[in-house]
Amino acid sequence: MTLFEKKIAVGVSGGIAAYKACELVRELKRNGALVRVCMTESATRFVGPLTLATLSENSVSMSLFADAEVDGTVHLDLARWCDALVVCPATANILAKSRNGLADDFLSTALLATEAPIVFCPAMNSAMWAKPVVQDHVRVLRERGAKLVDPEWGELATTSEGKGIGRLAETGRIMQAIKQAVLGNKQLAGKKVLVSAGPTREALDPVRFITNYSTGKMGFALAEAAKLRGASVTLVCGPNQINSIEGVNQIDVESVEQMLSALKSEYSDSDLLLMAAAVSDYLPKRKSPQKLKKASTSLAIELRKAPDILTALSDPNATCVRVGFALETENEIANAQVKLAEKDLDMVVLNNPLQSGAAFGGDTNIVTLIERKGAIETLPKMSKAEVADKILDKISPLLYADSSKTVAV
Ligand code: CTP
Repeated sequence: MTLFEKKIAVGVSGGIAAYKACELVRELKRNGALVRVCMTESATRFVGPLTLATLSENSVSMSLFADAEVDGTVHLDLARWCDALVVCPATANILAKSRNGLADDFLSTALLATEAPIVFCPAMNSAMWAKPVVQDHVRVLRERGAKLVDPEWGELATTSEGKGIGRLAETGRIMQAIKQAVLGNKQLAGKKVLVSAGPTREALDPVRFITNYSTGKMGFALAEAAKLRGASVTLVCGPNQINSIEGVNQIDVESVEQMLSALKSEYSDSDLLLMAAAVSDYLPKRKSPQKLKKASTSLAIELRKAPDILTALSDPNATCVRVGFALETENEIANAQVKLAEKDLDMVVLNNPLQSGAAFGGDTNIVTLIERKGAIETLPKMSKAEVADKILDKISPLLYADSSKTVAV
């Protein structure tokens, strides 16, 4: 999906994440969009208007009255001009003003005046974000049709604040929401999409477990992308620290057995399965009911093979389109092709976590899409949100085609 010549107004409100609006403006320009920026007075304390004017290649609007003598309706002009108005970052203050219909500066007036879709990208400290009043504003704005790109968990602005929820969403997620707002792709309306995400945890005793480095970001990006395309989405996820996605039915699990049982109960009426979870291959043979005590100098733990979820879900009569992932560090393509055939997949998404830009937990990924019919496409490094879009672009047509499960020869 491209934003070529789409008119995007970016409203910057006054928080430390204002500097990240620069990255968003660059990304919009890279996508071919025409960009105009307006800033609140406090935003100008965090980032210079000249920077945003240079990046957007347009003058930046700040005051309702700056050009009043020559043009009394410049704020209305921006509100009418844009195909979408994106508030990035959106402070608690601008959310409150917009919810209550206040119009006392350029941005709040443009928000009230525009009839274009509005995308809010909140960013603030965790305590502010958690306040019922802020959540109430967010809920009401959403009910009125605004898109909200929820903030993420991660390091907050000052080191003293540590980690928490409130960090501005990664640019790829914001771009995805803007594209949906402007281009309105409802390709998956009426379809049920089942996504798995994150690691599993296999308990050794009441305090220890075996797991892996997966954070769940790729699976969450897929769930969000499918939801934005109008699908009804169920996300089965192992332990993670990602905000749940508004409108997605999330089922939290821990172990591979729990993940299998949750997916089984959702699978039969699903149209598309996106199996992004990093599932354990082996489990401890026994779980000790008591904490294992330190005794001898070494300890051997006996493991047994875990069920393979994709195999367990396979059903020759089912019409569900199936996408699996292949995590490979050697003979990547050949190994992924074996998984495609053995796990009865329509597409396998291959990635190598040893490649820089494709590591667990990062915001980017480098993947190769291998289709049942033989096509192989390696994508450049891109955000996980963009990877999710590419996967859906490729796989969605299969949901509407006569299902032919022939493998390339
Ligand atoms: N998978 C699964 N059940 C498991 C393990 C993996 O359904 N017990 C799924 C993963 O969600 C992924 C695909 O199978 O979609 C491939 O996972 P991957 O870890 O790459 O490979 P494995 O099948 O576990 O094989 P190996 O570890 O030997 O590469």
